[in-house]
Amino acid sequence: MEQYQIMTLAGDGIGPEVTAEAVRALEAIAQRFGHTFTITHALVGAAATAVEGVSITEETLEQCMRSDAILFGAVGTLEAATGAARPESSLLRLRKELELFVNLRPVRVLPALAEVSALRPERIAGVDLVVVRELTGGLYFGKPSEIRESEQGAVAVDTMIYTEAEIERIVRYGFELARTRRRHVTSVDKANVLSCSQLWRRVAKRVALEYPDVTLEHQLVDSCAMLLLRNPRGFDVIVTENMFGDILTDEASMIAGSLGMLPSASIGARRTAHGLLGLYEPIHGSAPDIAGQGKANPLAAILSAALLLRYSLGLADEAALVERAVSEVVESGLRTADIHTGDRTLVSTREMGDAVVRRIATTA
Ligand code: IPM
Ligand code: MG
Repeated sequence: MEQYQIMTLAGDGIGPEVTAEAVRALEAIAQRFGHTFTITHALVGAAATAVEGVSITEETLEQCMRSDAILFGAVGTLEAATGAARPESSLLRLRKELELFVNLRPVRVLPALAEVSALRPERIAGVDLVVVRELTGGLYFGKPSEIRESEQGAVAVDTMIYTEAEIERIVRYGFELARTRRRHVTSVDKANVLSCSQLWRRVAKRVALEYPDVTLEHQLVDSCAMLLLRNPRGFDVIVTENMFGDILTDEASMIAGSLGMLPSASIGARRTAHGLLGLYEPIHGSAPDIAGQGKANPLAAILSAALLLRYSLGLADEAALVERAVSEVVESGLRTADIHTGDRTLVSTREMGDAVVRRIATTA
């Protein structure tokens, strides 16, 4: 029988609560389809620093490297920390060392959630876009990145750096993806100011020549931020650098109704026995203000587990079943606080997870 190794790193804040529900969804899938998922847990973020002294140990990194997929919760606390103790450094190391250079962030609007979107229902009906965010370059990793003391006072520097090869592989990914969708790529940059963006645009134009069947459009990031709200249906595939993708996807979550609804998949070129090695995480953070209260929405984590089934385990039917279960549960009127309105049924993190698990077990 096929063996699937899944590593879970639940992390801080609401990470453990939402990850627990995603794990239960995976277990329900295993049960229904007769798969064996070996699920291993390890500490990450501030939770790891408290016990192990660093936000991720070498051993955990190696275990991740050896698994088929990683289910990640969230990292970060309200306290400030620096260096290897900074909770976020664990996630950045995972992305870099596992060479997960593609971050896929699909944005879809469940019809039943049109009522909580920040935008008018007629503007968002049918939105189906995916942001392809570059994940291992740019400002997040450029050196130097530090605060220096100088005679004029403190000076801070961050470095935005991209090689042509780094840009080419992510842009190419965007074009390949567009070929499986509506054949439209929006390349987002700030070419009127930044050198990195000027190179980005040049490479995007060159790669586009190999995809005459796909339309390429360039947008400046500020104008893209505006267009995402004015006409979100106008986008199919958005391809952009690390920091712009971070910001635009939090914005895009408001189209879907809540940060608590958006999953993400981080993949690269490393293959496993079943597909691509990948890390799957909700796009939301650790939300320390609501941690431990059963208020968090587990659907982004559960939808991330669906992406894990699809991309890293090669289990497309199973992934589709999880996604259907989530739609049906929302359709049935259950709502965590972040997506609650009017007379809908307010439920806890666990109750929402229960409902999804039940659907996975019973839906035709
Ligand atoms: C995200 C998060 C991370 C990022 C943080 C936690 C480092 O905001 O995945 O979008 O900025 O990439
Ligand atoms: Mg972010």
